[in-house]
Order: sequence, then structure tokens, then C-alpha cells
Amino acid sequence: WFNQAQFIPPDAIFALTAQYQADPFPQKVNLGQGTYRDEEGKPWVLPSVNKARECLRTKGLQHEYLPILGLQSFREETAKIVLGAELFKEQASKIATCQSLSGTGALHLAGLLLRACHTKLPKFYIPEPTWSNHHQVFQSLGFPCESFKYYDHEMKSLDIESYYSMLRQAEPNSVVILHACAHNPTGCDPSKEQWREIAQLMKARQLFPLFDSAYLGFNSGNFDEDAFAIRLFLGEMQMEAGVCVSFAKNMGLYGERVGCILMSTVDRQVAVNMQSMLEMLQRSEVSNPPAFGAKIASQVLGNDELKQMWFQDMMTMSGRIRAMRAALYEKLIFFGAPGSWEHLIQQSGMFGFLGLSHEVVLKLREQHHVYVADNSRISIAGLNAGNVEYVARSITQCLRD
Ligand code: LMR
Repeated sequence: WFNQAQFIPPDAIFALTAQYQADPFPQKVNLGQGTYRDEEGKPWVLPSVNKARECLRTKGLQHEYLPILGLQSFREETAKIVLGAELFKEQASKIATCQSLSGTGALHLAGLLLRACHTKLPKFYIPEPTWSNHHQVFQSLGFPCESFKYYDHEMKSLDIESYYSMLRQAEPNSVVILHACAHNPTGCDPSKEQWREIAQLMKARQLFPLFDSAYLGFNSGNFDEDAFAIRLFLGEMQMEAGVCVSFAKNMGLYGERVGCILMSTVDRQVAVNMQSMLEMLQRSEVSNPPAFGAKIASQVLGNDELKQMWFQDMMTMSGRIRAMRAALYEKLIFFGAPGSWEHLIQQSGMFGFLGLSHEVVLKLREQHHVYVADNSRISIAGLNAGNVEYVARSITQCLRD
């Protein structure tokens, strides 16, 4: 039955974490996987999440199935916070929602729904570079995927002209993957004006926006600010769109797989139909989604005091990341690391896209035990006052050798 099975190399980013964990060197630094770490380099359970867990414990947890579409209060609170109160009131009845296995599960469900609704599969336009899993998720569903130039490696910035020109030439009725904020891996997002232009071009050419929204509130520390592009497309532009939401990063619920897909359309009955399809697709894949993480998130989102605490937690995380970004920049300048480093402080979000050659990335790993993704993306949350100097010195040395 399986003679045709091919060997697939392990996922690069998870393999890097395993390599880091196996390294006995005491000063090793993990800047690979995008997971938040506190000032001591430890995973951080958000105080708001801790408090929500306490509340659940005192209420008494049971372990019954959730409905197939997921926890109703979680789905509703997610739609509310992503759209903002006003837009939610206006549009709730035209949005189908379904709890998902984090952001990846939401992307996959969106793909399943799009596939089920189209006899001719739409093309997917995916920025280059992008999160390492995007192509895999959509190719595995049979969609033709095409990369478009998002980033200018020489200028080390967003290549907005290439972006516009792709949109002008894209096949109508295709899907475009949009990073709602904190573009992974480049940390370069369009400005508000550029988002407006992107939305107009997409609307004119009937392109479907599918937002990957893994960093809302985590990017700037302000949820509304980070949800700007989503609200622009759904609100002002009145476009049909998909929003794939993850609470892995902004609530630190990595392992709980807490996510949600929001599919907005223009007609109530169509939304009802879409929702019923999502229910059937979910049933055939996971039957019903996991309960614990959704209950925590729902508790945080649905309780004013906990929500305020969570906003504060997001400011703590994004603030520490911003401070570490600045510290790394200053140390690189201090040590005289060859090249210019302005791009590092112009980027935002969890990642720094350094622009190092593969050779330098390997040297960092092998000679200095500093683990950086192959494309020289660093997870800035892995830096702290105790290791930032070591990292900057290591980068400087590797570039000089
Ligand atoms: C990352 O980009 O490092 C994270 O989103 C983890 C992952 O699943 O790749």
C-alpha cells in the first residue's frame, strides 16, 4: 500500500527547535520559532490567561463535547473584537464563523470552503516571502499557488510597486493571502494608504482577500490598530473576505490550538449556507474542536476586567519585543557590524528579518550556537538583556570572518 511513499524532510522551523534543544552549549540562544519568551528566556503564561484559568477551575470544568462549530461565546466574542463593536453590529448576520485548530486550522477550513464552493479551483497568490506553511496548506488542498514579490531584498523593504502590479494583472476570481499585520517573516506591513490602494485594486479585480491574522494586538500592543486592514476591507470597502484568527501568540495559547475562521459575505442567506457548510466540513475533519483553550479565550474576551488585563499583557509583550529590537540594533552599531541595520528598527512585530546570507546563518548556528531560521528571520522575543550582546557580537564576528 505504501511503496510510493516518499521521504519528506522535517519542517524546518520545528527541526530547528529540536536542534536547539539538543545543543548542550550553555550560552545557546533560540531565535527560531516565533514563541514569546519573557526577560528570563522562559515561556510566559499571560496573567489574564492565568486568571481566566482560575475562574474556570472555580466554576468547575467538565469535559463534554463542544458543538461542531465550536464554543458559541468564543465565536461571537472573536467576531466582536476582530470587527470592533460597530462593524460587528452592522455585519454579524452576514458572517459565518467556526472555531478552528488555531490559525493553520482556520486557513485550512477557509481552503476547504473555497474548494467546496468552486468547480474551477481559484488560484492563490501568496507573498514571497511568507510564513513557511502557507504554500503547504493550500497546495495540499489542490489549489494552484503562485508567489508574488512582496519584499525587496536589496532595499530591505516592502516592494509595494510589485505588489500593486501583481494585483493589476492577477486573474480575476483568485484568492490573495494577506498578512493582517506583522508580516511573517519580514516585519514589513503596508501603510494605511497602501492598504487602501490594495483593497481598491482587489475589489476592482474581484480578488478574494484571505487574511492570516495571527498577531492582532501583539504587533503594536493595540488590537484596534492591528485590525485596521481587516476592518477596512469588510467595513469601508464592503468586500467579501475570510479572516483566519489565531490566539496562539496574542494569548500565549500556543499548544491549545485556539482559532476561528470568519467568512464575511454580502447576503444573510449566503452566510447561513456557508455556516452550514463549515459545520459539515469541520465534522468530517475533526468532529468538534478542542474545548479548554476556547473556554479560556472566551473568558478573557467576555469579561471586562480580564479583557483590560489582556490588553495590558499584549502591551507588555509587544513593548518588550520593541525594546529588544532597539537593543539589538544599538549593539550591532556599537560593535560595528558590517552593513546598515536601519531596516531592523523599521520592521515591526515578532520578527526581525536580518538579511544575512545562508552561510552566515549556518556559522551563527554552528560556531556561536545562535539559532536563526534559514531565511535569517529572528524571533526577537528570544532576545533578553542577558543574551542580546552575545547575539550582536556573534553576528558581527560572522559577518567579519
Ligand atoms: C513561526 O512562524 O515560527 C510560528 O508561527 C511557528 C510555526 O508554526 O511556524
